Amino acid sequence: MSIETDVLIVGSGAAGLTAALNLAETHKVAVIAKGALGAGATSWAQGGIAAVLEEGDSFEAHVNDTMVAGAGLNDRHVVERVVERAPGAIARLMELGVPFATDGNALHLTREGGHSHRRIVHVADATGYAIQQALETAAAKHPNIRLVPGMVAIDLLTGRHATSFSTSGAVHGLYAYNRQSKRVERLTGRATILATGGAGRAYLYSTAPRGATGDGIAMAWRAGCRVSNMEFMQFHPTCLYNLQLKNFLITEAVRGEGGQLKLPPGVEGGGKRFMPRFDKAAELAPRDIVARAIDHEIKRLGLDYVHLDISHRDADFVRAHFPNIYDKLLGLGIDITREPIPVVPAQHYTCGGVVVDLDGRTDAPGLYAAGEVTESGLHGANRLASNSLLECVVFGEAAARHVAADWSHLPDVPQVRPWDESRVTDSDEEVVIAQTWGEIRRFMWNYVGIVRTTKRLERAKHRIAMLRQEVREYYAHFRVTPDLIELRNLVEVADLIVRSALARQESRGLHYTLDYPDALPEANDTVLIP
Ligand code: FAD
Ligand code: SIN
Repeated sequence: MSIETDVLIVGSGAAGLTAALNLAETHKVAVIAKGALGAGATSWAQGGIAAVLEEGDSFEAHVNDTMVAGAGLNDRHVVERVVERAPGAIARLMELGVPFATDGNALHLTREGGHSHRRIVHVADATGYAIQQALETAAAKHPNIRLVPGMVAIDLLTGRHATSFSTSGAVHGLYAYNRQSKRVERLTGRATILATGGAGRAYLYSTAPRGATGDGIAMAWRAGCRVSNMEFMQFHPTCLYNLQLKNFLITEAVRGEGGQLKLPPGVEGGGKRFMPRFDKAAELAPRDIVARAIDHEIKRLGLDYVHLDISHRDADFVRAHFPNIYDKLLGLGIDITREPIPVVPAQHYTCGGVVVDLDGRTDAPGLYAAGEVTESGLHGANRLASNSLLECVVFGEAAARHVAADWSHLPDVPQVRPWDESRVTDSDEEVVIAQTWGEIRRFMWNYVGIVRTTKRLERAKHRIAMLRQEVREYYAHFRVTPDLIELRNLVEVADLIVRSALARQESRGLHYTLDYPDALPEANDTVLIP
């Protein structure tokens, strides 16, 4: 079986569906997802989307906050473009039916770390779910959009996959594993848009969903595209500490609405706030600062967690603003209106990724990318809270616009060879995949985490080299499965992260190393060239 379409979109989150809806009036689009359509990070987003919507706030202030968080590595031109398009993006989401919270006649704006003003529009504490529902509903209704869940992209199709082999680096679609038929199919299109999300699952503890294995980054890299700033892995300060539920986020908006970080009872300073010792913005300092401060206190005092306390606020207010968190934690025996929440930092967002320009173009003709899979210049060395969904919408629209405008210049699709399975057999050692996956996630957490050293990074590098070789052999000999496809990508992105971290001989934004504790005078991206 094969799918032939005008535009192929890999990923059905905010970036992919936005691109699809913006192309569908003029082009036939197929959107694939490797599992259920709503299983990406978009559905899990809690806090909201940042946009300048209130008198007293300004584009300049939003630009400035984004650049301060980004520690000098943002591309100002990109930041300005995204910030200026934010109010329009919110309006279009409302037209699609996203029920953003209101306060009288105006949108209710909440606050998050690093923002100098209230500017986060939200749907209580489950903003992403509402956005995903609205986009999915609109896409499902559109006759030009074909939604294909359960289709796992393996590799991009370039000239070397054509029946008449060529060295053209242009991309014409991809091979993908169909979970239903358990066969590999050819999917072709004049343009391909990667919207595959991040690579958080390279770490043992992450707020990201199971599918965040960096597939798009690895595929683009293998197809010859530059990847940059992969060392900037964002750790969210407040993930619930719970032995059963390991990746539940407690939104930054809890701190925005007055939540305080405290040491737990039984240690020196127990029950007291500690953030004022670390930053004048205290709990509302940018994420890297808060996450490092928590990590420091946990290690200094030998703690399992610290406390996030919002119980001093009115109970009705807490229940109204954070209904999902309230319910979820009540089910675990924690009443957040009366007691503090145990929290730890966890990997949360991939700031680096496939290099794209303002139109979402990658280095390969015919290949575009949008959303968390990219490094667009917006986030720099650390993403400002709630700028990610915004990036998905703005770049999803920009990529769609460019594909439509440039249609006649996009590469023609050649005849593509079918997937060759003649030299492989079914694996009799599936356990190797789970074991290797676990190994990578553990050493990435321990050696490439919030605080780094060159020695630990070198250790990670040696392990990756060995595992990469093993995975390569495994991939060459056995029939592909979704787990093997993801493992192959995970080891690739782990390698990109460690190589980038070793290349950065300074501390900047999310990359903090004890061996080079200061920032260099000049800020430069880490660009890896295949
Ligand atoms: P995703 O929404 O992650 O979608 C990825 C898609 O790609 C999925 O459909 C997946 O199936 C598909 N895919 C991946 N690999 C393959 C493959 N090999 N083959 C086929 N399909 C594939 N940001 C904010 O701005 N505000 C917030 O409040 C916020 N809260 C967050 C809370 C949590 C818990 C998390 C984890 C993130 C949060 N973020 C937030 C970040 C934000 O949600 C994500 O960055 C954003 O949703 C990413 O959207 P995306 O479209 O790029 O990818
Ligand atoms: C949160 O709600 O704390 C997450 C916001 C974000 O990741 O931008």
